[in-house]
Amino acid sequence: MIYALGIGPGDPQFLPLKSWDILKKADVISGFETVLNYAKVHFPTSAKLVSLNYKNQKEKLNEVGIMSREGKVCVFCFMGDLNFSGYDFLNNIKTYCEDPDPVKIPGISSAQIAATRASVPFEESIFTTFHKAGDIEKDKEFLVQALKLGKSAIIIPLPWDFMPTEICKYLVDKKLPPEIPVHIFEHLTLENEKSYKTTIGECSGSYSDMSIIVLQNNL
Ligand SMILES: C[S@@+](CC[C@H](N)C(=O)[O-])C[C@H]1O[C@@H](n2cnc3c(N)ncnc32)[C@H](O)[C@@H]1O
Repeated sequence: MIYALGIGPGDPQFLPLKSWDILKKADVISGFETVLNYAKVHFPTSAKLVSLNYKNQKEKLNEVGIMSREGKVCVFCFMGDLNFSGYDFLNNIKTYCEDPDPVKIPGISSAQIAATRASVPFEESIFTTFHKAGDIEKDKEFLVQALKLGKSAIIIPLPWDFMPTEICKYLVDKKLPPEIPVHIFEHLTLENEKSYKTTIGECSGSYSDMSIIVLQNNL
């Protein structure tokens, strides 16, 4: 049995009881090192930890796939909620663990925390991620169109090619009003959380790869 489980935005207290129960019965817990560190406090000491990186991912996923077919309860930890910018990893799990249907357990996303901090309702917003493999031109165009329709936007940048400053510059070049407010949140819910409020016309500087931005559109 394989679970794909969102472990929340960082602070381990943002873990639903349902997810906690699943972690407690896990024989094997796997995920990228940073993500595992966020949730470590909830792991049973008996669980085998399989830490992934971009180099060993395929081989380690293969190993976890074998353990799941041997009857072990295997849990993959996703950052935040697996439904936001998590499907590249989910598809790798399906392919390399040879399991077409892992049990998906949602988590609390950094998008929820960012919307809460910025006071931006979901129903007036769009979500988009640039943190993906492949071409992002269509996603950029989608963002422009959504903002022109008056939507707010919750955006995961692409380290280090399309970060908050580049995103804002792109939008100004596309003739969006430079006074649109932008909130940039780094390391949400963690001890080193930081936030910045500016406008797309004035946004500058560099930000952490653990950042998410909210464009608060009032068009
Ligand atoms: C592959 S995406 C996964 C997002 C995740 N599924 C979620 O729901 O938050 C990883 C990126 O999300 C953003 N992110 C995730 N957690 C964050 C946090 N606590 N604070 C700020 N940004 C975060 C960062 O841009 C990070 O590089």
